[in-house]
Amino acid sequence: MTTTGFTIWFTGLSGAGKSTLATILERELRARGRKVETLDGDVVRTHLSKGLGFSKEDRDTNIRRIGWVCEVLTRNDVIAIAATISPYRAVREELRQRIGRFVEVFVDCPLEVVIERDVKGLYRKALAGEIRHFTGLDDPYEPPLNPEVIVRTADEEPQESAARILATLERLGYLTREKEQGGRYD
Ligand code: ADX
Repeated sequence: MTTTGFTIWFTGLSGAGKSTLATILERELRARGRKVETLDGDVVRTHLSKGLGFSKEDRDTNIRRIGWVCEVLTRNDVIAIAATISPYRAVREELRQRIGRFVEVFVDCPLEVVIERDVKGLYRKALAGEIRHFTGLDDPYEPPLNPEVIVRTADEEPQESAARILATLERLGYLTREKEQGGRYD
């Protein structure tokens, strides 16, 4: 039996574009007839991780819970997409080892740009001292050293980033090439 599940793990600062890209990819993969489930940090924190805060310990617990769900989905031939800051390299590596079929996507965006975007108004609050331990400001973010893909959301459109991720999935053999697309993703 062939194994068809895998995990796409988005990591990056708040506001970098992880959820946006997860939504586009989910749609594209479903259009290819695949079963897909997205675990978005903001959503997971309302149920599975409800009550957890943003200390290193709580963030690692959050990531391990999401990772466990991704592992279960992956081994049942589903494509799991995780969209969380997941700021700590060690726990991401731990999940890579556990899950095996793991594609890490670094959603890279300069801090100045996410502060400027401030979609949720949280950077303003954090800069005003109303929220402590905010990732990228007074809390660490450890970028991946060897991600399968890096997308630079300050320089490319979401569709372009999504296309590069799909091309990588094809190159790595997780997806079969869409012939009728005529190399759209190359
Ligand atoms: S993670 O660090 O555990 O991976 P997760 O992705 O689930 O974080 O949640 C991040 C979201 O929580 C942010 O996009 C933001 O909306 C919100 N948030 C609230 N407090 C913080 C904080 N101190 N640091 C980062 N994000 C925070």
